[in-house]
Amino acid sequence: MQVFTFERGENMLSLHEYESRIDRPVMMKIPEFNRENRLKHILFSSQMDKMMIDMLCRTALKIKHISSTKPGSDYLLSLLSHKRAMLYFTQVSTRTFMSFMAASQILGIKCNEIRDQNLSSEFKGESPLDSIRMFSSYFDVIIMRSKTPNFAEACAYLMNDLDQFNQRSVPIINAGAGADEHPTQALLDIFTLQRTFGFTSKKDSSKWNYYRELKKNHPDLTKGLNDKVYGFCGDLRRGRTVRSLVNLLSLYENISVAFISPDSEDFRFPEEEIKRLEHRGVTVYEYFSLDEAIDKVDMLYMTRIQKEYDKPDQSKNYDELIGEFILTPERAERLKTYCPILHPFPRNEEIPFEIDSNPRAMYFRQARNGMWVRAALIAHLFDVESQIANYYQDKFSEYHNYNMEAI
Ligand code: NCD
Repeated sequence: MQVFTFERGENMLSLHEYESRIDRPVMMKIPEFNRENRLKHILFSSQMDKMMIDMLCRTALKIKHISSTKPGSDYLLSLLSHKRAMLYFTQVSTRTFMSFMAASQILGIKCNEIRDQNLSSEFKGESPLDSIRMFSSYFDVIIMRSKTPNFAEACAYLMNDLDQFNQRSVPIINAGAGADEHPTQALLDIFTLQRTFGFTSKKDSSKWNYYRELKKNHPDLTKGLNDKVYGFCGDLRRGRTVRSLVNLLSLYENISVAFISPDSEDFRFPEEEIKRLEHRGVTVYEYFSLDEAIDKVDMLYMTRIQKEYDKPDQSKNYDELIGEFILTPERAERLKTYCPILHPFPRNEEIPFEIDSNPRAMYFRQARNGMWVRAALIAHLFDVESQIANYYQDKFSEYHNYNMEAI
């Protein structure tokens, strides 16, 4: 059992009262965070099954198309203009913070933010759990990223308890917690892969409509996420995005995962999680250099070394280590022609700038996809997906053929 505390000197917060609930296996917790096949809070990637993923991705695509016109954007803006969101991001973030803010704004939600505990009443010794309850009095959804492992989960229990006593309660969204999970990033990664492996759009794939051409060299290549080898490279132990994404990928048929990292417990994907994946039918390979794996993968997900999680006595010479794991232009040319390069960002030296013009580079599109997916998730939480679907049907479907079947 970990001890859940905030590093606030005298004002250490213990999540003690939630310990026994936090300590349960994830699958036991899910009924408390989902309600009648809908998400009530968003905490773990395992809350989503394939049907829910497909539904959310379809909504994301509709939001994207609807917002491409002014009347469409105005319609989306009107949907949740009566709602307010609190972005409580006390762990550093630029992308995810901005992405959630933009997603909320697409739907007309007004946002407020706390990014520094020292500028809130927590500086006066207020418990962060009290802060969260206070926010729930003013706001309609709380989107949070905290250094404290399991804090978002504890907040969701707090909201559920309030709900049970007929007190005001609002949804909690985990926007990345400690080194554990990053469920909304995993969903946007899946959305990006669905669009890429649809092999239908000029922008999403490295060539326009070239599936038939590809099949000549890759006769076994299928559309969609099944039957693929997914490569993950870098700091696989401490990168939460990898953990959440492999969890969602394990829902697909006949998939393999290639973990590519330095041969050290500090970076390798954890053994017990590999066993869990294998148990779910995923074939797992481990490589200790990018060169060995590069021509075998159908996707390459690069990650940076998560230096901020180093213990003070754990100073490493990363320069020596990282060389084998940099995606140089020469290495990138050895990737399969259709292999998307993904990265959750921020990047360090693992993807040099020259790679940005490689048609396989999908990381900027991936970030933009995040905004649509997060808007879809918020629309789901506030139950306005069917209104979005109806608007799309009325105003868009006759003009566009976006090959929805591909996702
Ligand atoms: C990642 C994160 O914060 O977990 N970035 C993100 O959310 N887009 C990855 C990272 O920090 O390396």
